[in-house]
Amino acid sequence: MCFKNIDTSHKLYPTLVSVFWSRIHPLLQQLTMMINRLLDRLIKMQKKIKLIAVAVLSAVGLSTTFAQTDSYDPLLTVKEIMNGLITPTTTTIWGAYQLESDAQWQEVRNAALSVIAAGNLLQLGGSGEGESAMAAEADWRIYNLQMIDAARQVIVATNNKDEEALSAAGNDALYPPCESCHQQYQVR
Ligand code: HEC
Repeated sequence: MCFKNIDTSHKLYPTLVSVFWSRIHPLLQQLTMMINRLLDRLIKMQKKIKLIAVAVLSAVGLSTTFAQTDSYDPLLTVKEIMNGLITPTTTTIWGAYQLESDAQWQEVRNAALSVIAAGNLLQLGGSGEGESAMAAEADWRIYNLQMIDAARQVIVATNNKDEEALSAAGNDALYPPCESCHQQYQVR
């Protein structure tokens, strides 16, 4: 009823609007600031959550890696150990001849250390099928220990820079366990 009577051309109308606006405007500004602050907090929270998620995820990742390395399961097959570790290192030992420099002796000594490391791995057998069971057998352990012992003799020879002892250890001690173990365990 009375709405109809509102005269928008009335002189008061623009002033009313400007008064109204002057009241509302600061409120709107405050509201915008509040929303901005809220958004700011949300973004910061999101960043924190992301950081926490990354931390948790990497902790989980680490613990699974630890779980994997914690177990003493073999990681290489016997074949990989033979071709990757035993063959190159025994080639160095058997090929040692007329050694002169300290570095040359050192190289042979390092090769013998690697044979011991490989023997250490072979105590578990390998990751191939049935290779753990094979390594649990007494004969396997004997041949493996003979190889490790031969590598120790090689180390003593390099410590003394004794080429005769080196060749004796290589031929008489290091070679036989290879043959014995292969005869019994290598499937042809
Ligand atoms: C304790 C047992 C054992 C000893 C000791 C051993 N081996 Fe082996 N080796 C094996 C077995 C088992 C295989 C067969 C692996 C396969 O075919 O999966 C093999 C295979 C090999 C192969 C063939 C790899 C291929 O690609 O088929 C070479 C080369 C080899 N051995 C070198 C040596 C040498 C050199 C020594 C001595 C310094 C040695 N092994 C000592 C168990 C042994």
